[in-house]
Amino acid sequence: MTTVTGTDSARHDSDELLPPWWRQATVYQIYPRSFADGDGDGIGDIPGALSRVPYLAELGIDAVWLSPFYPSELADGGYDVADYRDVDPRLGTLDDFDALVAALHERGIRVVVDIVPNHTSDQHAWFQEALAAGRGSAARERYIFRDGTGPDGSEPPTDWDSIFGGSAWERVADGQWYLHNFAVEQPDLNWSNPEVRADFVRTLRFWSDRGVDGFRIDVAHMLTKDMTEPLLSKAELEALPKDGNHPMIDRDDVHEVYAEWRQVFDEYDPPRTAVAEAWVDRSRIPLYARAESLGQAFNFDLLQADFDARQFHTIVDDNLALAASSGSSTTWVLSNHDVVRHATRYGLPDAERTETGAPTRKHGNEWLLSGGREPQLDREKGLRRARAAALFLLGLPGSAYLYQGEELGLHEVADIPDAQRQDPTFFRSPGEDVGRDGCRVPLPWTADGASLGFGTGGAHLPQPEWFAASAADVQDDDPDSTLTMYRRALALRHELQTDEQLEWVDTGEADVLRFRRPNGWEVVTNFGTQPHALTPGREVLLASGPVDTDLVPGETTVWLAPA
Ligand code: NOJ
Repeated sequence: MTTVTGTDSARHDSDELLPPWWRQATVYQIYPRSFADGDGDGIGDIPGALSRVPYLAELGIDAVWLSPFYPSELADGGYDVADYRDVDPRLGTLDDFDALVAALHERGIRVVVDIVPNHTSDQHAWFQEALAAGRGSAARERYIFRDGTGPDGSEPPTDWDSIFGGSAWERVADGQWYLHNFAVEQPDLNWSNPEVRADFVRTLRFWSDRGVDGFRIDVAHMLTKDMTEPLLSKAELEALPKDGNHPMIDRDDVHEVYAEWRQVFDEYDPPRTAVAEAWVDRSRIPLYARAESLGQAFNFDLLQADFDARQFHTIVDDNLALAASSGSSTTWVLSNHDVVRHATRYGLPDAERTETGAPTRKHGNEWLLSGGREPQLDREKGLRRARAAALFLLGLPGSAYLYQGEELGLHEVADIPDAQRQDPTFFRSPGEDVGRDGCRVPLPWTADGASLGFGTGGAHLPQPEWFAASAADVQDDDPDSTLTMYRRALALRHELQTDEQLEWVDTGEADVLRFRRPNGWEVVTNFGTQPHALTPGREVLLASGPVDTDLVPGETTVWLAPA
């Protein structure tokens, strides 16, 4: 049994310092309400997650990232936090949390928790106080309240849109308006207020003291805002460059906040880590990933790419260079709780893109809007490509962030009845976005039984019948299952993982990428459909699908043993 203790940088016998654990970790994201339900109320919880620690250990991950488990009215799946230093009673208690951390640590698995600093829930004590205290009060200064426009102030202060649709302002009983960049129930905090800053430092210490190893920082690029009057219009804001001085997004002064957090992280041994969720221009990601700031930042490029050799090649080169420029390691992500699962994306026609290569809309949205009735999803192709992409990703230098259920090869669930949908993006954009519930359906653990082993009761989002065929117990002993492939890949990754270097090997074919790690481990991905011939005699350690000797079939990845 490996125990996570004391010091961050381990030492070889030769006394050579090893890099910190997070640089090339495999981090498994748990969306707690949909992972495992311990008390049968249909909502996943901390005791449920505890019961699955053996599964996580067998999978071979290095860390778990827990999406929010804090008290919440669930207006945004828990990203509306009512109390940052407690556990939602429906999900358990602080003692349950401590037990989960202890059990994971005993298996050598680190724990990362989500911090949501841009906004609280409208049920947070501070917001309730702000409503009660009225205009001009210190309590309102923790949020962003303004008077409205128009003769009687009944028009919002500006024409800004919320990211979830509709106005970014909501009016309260005494006529003032508050800013919410996300759901109405998620008022934005005022990061110019020292009290807000001090409280988050307290929260970071609270969880660090409980043994948490790191933090994932939600919308890390939006905390600080320049709300100097007169406020600009939506069109004026859109016309401004996002160069660090934009009033709303990716401001340079947000790093003052993170510099303070860094001091807190470094008070601990080992230092606590953080990864930024920052949707910013790629050139500005290193600012978040620097050691003086959060230390690591997500790169969401693969998550937005088609299954395409040219796109993957460019993304790898760009992000390794960016990581090198910040001194951090990069992060690879194919799926998370906000996007259509990649097995489904890869089974749909490629995304429509603008000239710059950005997808014109959420990939998979049209298919979702039809409730999955449109025939264009090729499930087998999607899964074949998803497996190939996973082995490509797990061979790369840097951290790999996996989303619960991808190791089961799960597809997105499209046909959730409107009455059962939960995501605010569905309610605030009627007819345009069905939201993110389809990737948050509770996991199938067993092919039979109540809620497919998720819990003894129901499931808070309906599980489709076809989920049973992907259940963990069905895949457990199957040598060809996706679960077995992930387990083998993670075990081999531990053995083979080497310096954060990669060298491309020319394959002579545009559809085939091949790279070599410093110890000779090689990864070959055939993004095309025609078989690709390998140099004879190389030992294949792992493949994402059936392989013929010395041939890599289409839409397949193979790992080659060091020569
Ligand atoms: C990003 C999170 O990943 C998403 O789920 C959430 O809705 C927004 N931030 C707002 O907190």
